Amino acid sequence: MVKIFPSILSADFFNLEKELKQIQNDADGLHMDVMDGNFVPNISFGNPIIKAVRNHMDMYFDTHLMINNPDLYIEEFSKYSNSLTVHYEATNHLDRTINAIKEKGLKAGIAINPHTSIYLLENILNIIDSVLIMSVNPGFGGQSFIDYSIDKIKDLKVLIEKKNLNVSIQVDGGVSKDNIKELFEAGATEFISGSAIFKSEDPANEIRKMKDRVK
Ligand code: DX5
Ligand code: ZN
Repeated sequence: MVKIFPSILSADFFNLEKELKQIQNDADGLHMDVMDGNFVPNISFGNPIIKAVRNHMDMYFDTHLMINNPDLYIEEFSKYSNSLTVHYEATNHLDRTINAIKEKGLKAGIAINPHTSIYLLENILNIIDSVLIMSVNPGFGGQSFIDYSIDKIKDLKVLIEKKNLNVSIQVDGGVSKDNIKELFEAGATEFISGSAIFKSEDPANEIRKMKDRVK
């Protein structure tokens, strides 16, 4: 089943309530981009924002931690999210990090930067729920999709099927109604999209258009 997760990074933070209420019936969850100014060259927001939104929105929250040493923050970020996605490149002991997330009762995902091979996840695939293929260099919304990400999605799908696992493939960065069909055909089923949704005239309708393309 196809899922669309709008990234709140591209929403108007001054009008966050209005921005999120307009998409809550069409989105399958919210994607929270946490950036530390260290793992990525940008600082976004932290758990107080996620908590504030959680208090008013009953939706699935997938938090994408673009932070170094995520282990230090699993406890805190597990409080208001349904799943946590950590970067392969940000921790030396990924197995430990994933187990810490799962011990909190959350779904666990691994994100990989554009240059990182999907085959590095081969042995850990059986303990995770999702792989997030970054199709831009993480740090900012509104960047152009990196084309070779499509081959990574295809290869990952083959690997997951070969192992007969139930791991979903997410894609994040430069996703819009214009490329969603190709990404779906490559094997992705969960789509993170920020600027294409929130910078459009009618964000809810934009989500519906994206879903129409992959029916
Ligand atoms: C990039 C973030 C993405 C970003 C997506 O570092 O992880 O989730 O917000 O934004 P768009 O869809 O504008 O590329
Ligand atoms: Zn993200």
